[in-house]
Amino acid sequence: MNTLAKLRLHDLAPPQDDFLAAVLDGLGRARKTLPCKFFYDEAGSALFDAICDTPEYYPTRTELGILTAAAGDIADLAGRGGVLVEYGSGSSRKTRLLLDALAPALYMPIDISREHMLGACHTLVQDYPALHLMAVCADYTRPLRLPAVARGGQRRLAFFPGSSIGNFAPLEALRFLKNVAQQLATDDGFLIGVDLKKDPAILNAAYNDAAGVTAAFNLNLLARCNRELGADFDLDAFAHRAFYNEAAGRIEMHLESTREQRVEIAGQRFGFAAGETIHTENSYKYRPDEFRHLAVQAGFEPQQLWTDVDTLFGVLYLRRR
Ligand code: AVJ
Repeated sequence: MNTLAKLRLHDLAPPQDDFLAAVLDGLGRARKTLPCKFFYDEAGSALFDAICDTPEYYPTRTELGILTAAAGDIADLAGRGGVLVEYGSGSSRKTRLLLDALAPALYMPIDISREHMLGACHTLVQDYPALHLMAVCADYTRPLRLPAVARGGQRRLAFFPGSSIGNFAPLEALRFLKNVAQQLATDDGFLIGVDLKKDPAILNAAYNDAAGVTAAFNLNLLARCNRELGADFDLDAFAHRAFYNEAAGRIEMHLESTREQRVEIAGQRFGFAAGETIHTENSYKYRPDEFRHLAVQAGFEPQQLWTDVDTLFGVLYLRRR
């Protein structure tokens, strides 16, 4: 089998110095922050996969269960064959459910972690001999234009699982949804996973797993600064903090400096007071009606919502108007 012909790479990777610029900018602010998209280097992607297997982190297994039960309905709505576009593909367990149910002609994953994505693609090439893949290495948090592929009247289904939409503040989420809508034609579908509002105790546990995997994932951001930017973060002097901010409707993750300290990065010094934090992630939670409202504003018509019995998580099928 000629795997080279089956898998092509469209590389829109942001330049390396994006990370340094973002770190200097984020740590230079009065309220220190680092963008969560930088979690996903090779080590961070592996840690994220491990988070998904912790007993406390319900979204992955809940969404998998929903998708397993709904796959036939999804194929009926989206149509079989066609093009499956996945935003932030990561590893491919959820993708396989759709590949099995839809049998698309082309699968187009979009991910910022090039090697992680290509590794997953190589496995898919082996397992789905009829499938063509166009891997797009890109930062989907910025407006993005997908590579032109011969559509031949084929429908597109965009897929954004995992509730990664939660990383956007609501207005950014709207902008993202509008950008997805622009990549689709009328009647194309958009299948999106959304983590739902619920008892804060469940949310707080999910981001504070007992084995400390989420803490390691959060701290890896500082380790990455040390590895790639020559920073001198003392990882023992920062602590993982995650909590549900009810007023904002979001989980916040922070790294808290456990003592007064200074850190040097690329010749610049940053002072930390004891207890000062770096805000590393927001993960917004929605009520179904709140999310439907956003989708309608972005040009979609909500067609179907599937949830688990405990309504922890929602998968929504949107039709491009
Ligand atoms: C990948 C953004 C959906 O917000 O739940 C998991 C990332 N952070 N544990 C989430 C994450 C800490 C995750 N998303």
